[in-house]
Amino acid sequence: MGISIDMKKITELSIIAGTLVSCYYLMTMPSPESIGAGLDKDSQKKSDHNVKRILSKRPDLYGQLKGLNSYEKKVLADVLIAEEINVRFKDVGGLDDIIEDLKETVIYPLVNRSNEQKNDDEESDEEDQMAHLYESGLLEAPKGVLLYGPPGSGKSLTAKCLAGESHATFINVKISTLLSSYYGESNKLIKALFSIASKLKPTIIFIDEIDALFRKRSTQDHEVSSTIKSEFLSLLDGLESGGGILMMGATNRRLDIDEAFLRRMPKQYHIELPNLKARIKILNILLKKIELDSKSVTTVQLAKYTPGYSGSDLKEICRDAVANAAREFRQGNRKGKKLRPLILSDFTLNYANLPGSFDNMNLD
Ligand SMILES: Nc1ncnc2c1ncn2[C@@H]1O[C@H](COP(=O)(O)OP(=O)(O)OP(=O)(O)O)[C@@H](O)[C@H]1O
Ligand SMILES: [Mg+2]
Repeated sequence: MGISIDMKKITELSIIAGTLVSCYYLMTMPSPESIGAGLDKDSQKKSDHNVKRILSKRPDLYGQLKGLNSYEKKVLADVLIAEEINVRFKDVGGLDDIIEDLKETVIYPLVNRSNEQKNDDEESDEEDQMAHLYESGLLEAPKGVLLYGPPGSGKSLTAKCLAGESHATFINVKISTLLSSYYGESNKLIKALFSIASKLKPTIIFIDEIDALFRKRSTQDHEVSSTIKSEFLSLLDGLESGGGILMMGATNRRLDIDEAFLRRMPKQYHIELPNLKARIKILNILLKKIELDSKSVTTVQLAKYTPGYSGSDLKEICRDAVANAAREFRQGNRKGKKLRPLILSDFTLNYANLPGSFDNMNLD
């Protein structure tokens, strides 16, 4: 008895099976829009979490955060409101002049002017008298500020403090938030960035390592990055001066930044490596809660032994020193129940800078 194979039936069945598989695949595959703008379930959850996070600290923002589109919600992940920022100018050492200038020329006009615009009727006498100066346009906050200088000198820290002290919304723009390989998505995300900035103003749009996003244009530029640049420039130009939105960039490669962006950050501050006086201040801040054995080491001595160190290098040697003492404490060589005061040998210093290696330690 032979088995008769009906080839026609088999072909029909395979076509049906193939079609079903393709339909299933198409139905379950996320759409490009949902990947780009973060509409899949996971991102949806995250963005709802961000709305809740902000509202828990600032319920008064309910109106502004209602009905955000999915792009705006994605940008919300990078938003920090002042209540979430726990660093203040007192945590920054050796940059007093720059901070004073930032307060006067950036924070005051940024925050006061935009509050003033909200409640125009309640102008104080002082503001009344300043009004004509603001009208001249010469006292307005600059639209862009750049902090540049060597790595670890406190640029990111200063920017964060600025937002904390000024009670401005701080958008710490992550490049990965703006880049999307789907056509047109990045532009929508940049538009969303500016619309969120406007809804939550006064706002500082902070772009750390700005050279990575806005490096000099070249013919090898990826298409996405050149459209991002143009979109950003046009939105920046659309901002009113004194409108409560400030772009702030930080970089240690200022010369790599596209001229067009440099021009839009007219206020530029060079943050240098700390000199002796600044290092003393930074060390006092870093070690304010830590006991030093003053017979062995003081912050002034440490500052003298660390020429060329950045604020971040100083933080590292302090971290190491505390870790050394803590390790001893955990391993049971405890004298009493307290962490012992730190001594000079807890700090890993550059041997060449220690006394005896140089006759003259006044290297600054
Ligand atoms: N002037 C300073 N005062 C106090 N702490 C500082 C200072 N500079 C740096 N630090 C410490 O070093 C850490 C790193 O500094 P920060 O990230 O601000 O450096 P940066 O200039 O942004 O460096 P990079 O160019 O590498 O981004 C800070 O979190 C802070 O703890
Ligand atoms: Mg930085």
